[in-house]
Amino acid sequence: MKAALIRGITPAERVGLTDVPVPRPRPGWVLVKVMGFGMNHSEQLLRLGEIEADYIRKPVVPGIECVGEIADPSDSPFKKGQRVVALMGGMGRSFDGSYAEYALLPAHHVFAVRSDLPWDALAAVPETWFTAWGSLFECLQLKANDALLIRGATCALGYAAMQIAKALGCRVTATTHREAKLPLLSDADEALLDDGRLTGRVHGVTKALDLVGPRSLKDTLTAVDKGGIVCQTGILGGVFALNGFDPIKDIPNGVYLTGFFSNYPTQAVMDAIFDFLSAYEITPRYGARFDFRDIREACIALDSGRVNGKIVVTMGE
Ligand SMILES: NC(=O)c1ccc[n+]([C@@H]2O[C@H](COP(=O)([O-])OP(=O)(O)OC[C@H]3O[C@@H](n4cnc5c(N)ncnc54)[C@H](OP(=O)(O)O)[C@@H]3O)[C@@H](O)[C@H]2O)c1
Repeated sequence: MKAALIRGITPAERVGLTDVPVPRPRPGWVLVKVMGFGMNHSEQLLRLGEIEADYIRKPVVPGIECVGEIADPSDSPFKKGQRVVALMGGMGRSFDGSYAEYALLPAHHVFAVRSDLPWDALAAVPETWFTAWGSLFECLQLKANDALLIRGATCALGYAAMQIAKALGCRVTATTHREAKLPLLSDADEALLDDGRLTGRVHGVTKALDLVGPRSLKDTLTAVDKGGIVCQTGILGGVFALNGFDPIKDIPNGVYLTGFFSNYPTQAVMDAIFDFLSAYEITPRYGARFDFRDIREACIALDSGRVNGKIVVTMGE
């Protein structure tokens, strides 16, 4: 089969396909014929540095998520040909991931698909929608009458959160740090240019999804109404942790702070996502699609940061 293998630091321009054996099924693991996958910033970080860390398998096939069909169910309850998605759990890091025609994956991180979406739209779902879903429902307990602030909304996660919240009936305020990108947020009820301070500029916000991260978190906490919940999910601002964070003074009285980590997907949540997509007749939005044979161009596009939304790769014929 064809796969993109990386052994050390690999700029996008040096990514290419090589011939490797199709992995052999073993107990607890299922062989998936990959039909498509979404790309993630963490795969760029892997290629450009993390690959050197001891805990990364080398060489490794990157890719933390995929959509496809069961090629060999091994000892799992899956059926050959069944449509599935898979994500996380060490995929593309401690075992080979999705940048390949076949992937051998732990059965507990492979999930049945209740959807007949085409492969390209399906490929936009696993990691991005699981993260948006968990942030909005598990963490923010989002309801139709909420006013949701999405801070740093011009990213795959932001667009997915906007699709979910608008379908549910929420009022959505979405922000970007680039004036030129305000038109990309036209699905929101209000699009704001984020200059680092939203406190006093937004009103009546009951829930906030912060994708900019620790750089803006203190301001997000003071921008929501009393009783509001803030979920910290993204780190687009490039600050990963907050030294000197003082919970007593920095979290206003009666405001709640939570965070979401996408490492623990479940079949129940995947079912809920696919039922929601079908009930609201939503086609998941993505920013660009590449054929697998053009994986190098897909990696270049990922590293450029110029694609507005999820990059999906499909396998073609
Ligand atoms: N907690 C979790 O488990 C989890 C899971 C998945 C992703 N994430 C995080 O969620 C965030 C979004 O992920 P994604 O995959 O949706 O990202 P993405 O689609 O790759 O989006 C990246 C784009 O976001 C834009 N952006 C928007 N606001 C920004 C800001 N304030 N500073 C810098 N860039 C900004 C940038 O474009 P412009 O600068 O041109 O606007 C950048 O190109 C990332 O931080 C990611 O690490 C977290």
